[in-house]
Amino acid sequence: MGTTHSSETNLDEVCQKLKSGHFKNVVIMCGAGISTSAGVPDFRSPSMGLYFKLKKYNLPYPEAVFEGSYFRQDPKPFYSLVRDIFPQELVPTPTHRFLALLHQKGFLRRVYTQNIDGLEFAGGLPEEKVVEAHGTFHRCHCSSCQKTFSLPWLQNEIFHPERNDGVPKCDCGGVVRPDVVLFGEAMPSRFFDLCNEDFERCDLLLIFGTSLAVAPFNGLFAKVGGDVTRVFINRTKPGSLGVLSRILGLGHRVSLSEATDLIELGDCDEKVEEICSKTGWTEDLSMIPISPIKMSSNIDS
Ligand code: OAD
Repeated sequence: MGTTHSSETNLDEVCQKLKSGHFKNVVIMCGAGISTSAGVPDFRSPSMGLYFKLKKYNLPYPEAVFEGSYFRQDPKPFYSLVRDIFPQELVPTPTHRFLALLHQKGFLRRVYTQNIDGLEFAGGLPEEKVVEAHGTFHRCHCSSCQKTFSLPWLQNEIFHPERNDGVPKCDCGGVVRPDVVLFGEAMPSRFFDLCNEDFERCDLLLIFGTSLAVAPFNGLFAKVGGDVTRVFINRTKPGSLGVLSRILGLGHRVSLSEATDLIELGDCDEKVEEICSKTGWTEDLSMIPISPIKMSSNIDS
């Protein structure tokens, strides 16, 4: 743990080893960057990221909108934001398909995702292969009596702010909220139950579409053995949050480095296509069946 990672290796070698079945316990860490091509905005990309578009919500600082303590005090900005970005339909991206392809080939140990959009499952992964470290938007509950509600019910409430003063409420009067992990709240026990053994067993770590700015998730990459290749695929370098993000305090530095890790800068869907071309899996990738997530269209009036 915490030892030097040797990366004399390059993407060609990683792909040859993947193809030959050398890696049997591939672990994936991913974040919002794998869903941007499905139309879900990320958080910290300058100008496009959510944290740069929050002026109208009148927040004390951008991350407040996803803070548990702020939500309990005033859930309205959270729901206003959700109303503004709620998608009609979510279609898994080539990167989501690639995760399912690794599973289909029998090489995938686990996917650790920070995303709450459920696209890993729509891309074809079974429940047991995914750890949703920051929860999910697809289930919700009353924060007072814990009664559960369906996503269509929540969506209906979200789009009728005139009925509920902009905040979905349970019959008991409690605020209903999705099962997402807000800042300051506990991560799911499944994360802690599985991560030690998964990262100990991991023989290839692929990190896709995340700034690695948020702890404790961003500490996971340091858990793999010193001889395990770590490949970081992202538009920007790990820890390169940009001046504005740093001024706004949007995250922590991490210590992946070009000297010791394989850092592949670029669009993750394009990198997935490159990997599949090098492994000869292009056709296999295109055959992965996907089930787009249709958000309820029957909102009553
Ligand atoms: P960020 O917005 O911090 O990082 C997303 C990264 O993906 C950025 O570095 C982008 O450059 C990169 N990116 C965007 N589109 C890409 C693409 N098509 N191909 C390759 N790279 C791309 O999002 P996360 O790292 O997921 O937590 O953020 C982590 C956590 O911070 C979230 O789960 C959320 C947030 O606050 C909570 O709300 C608790």
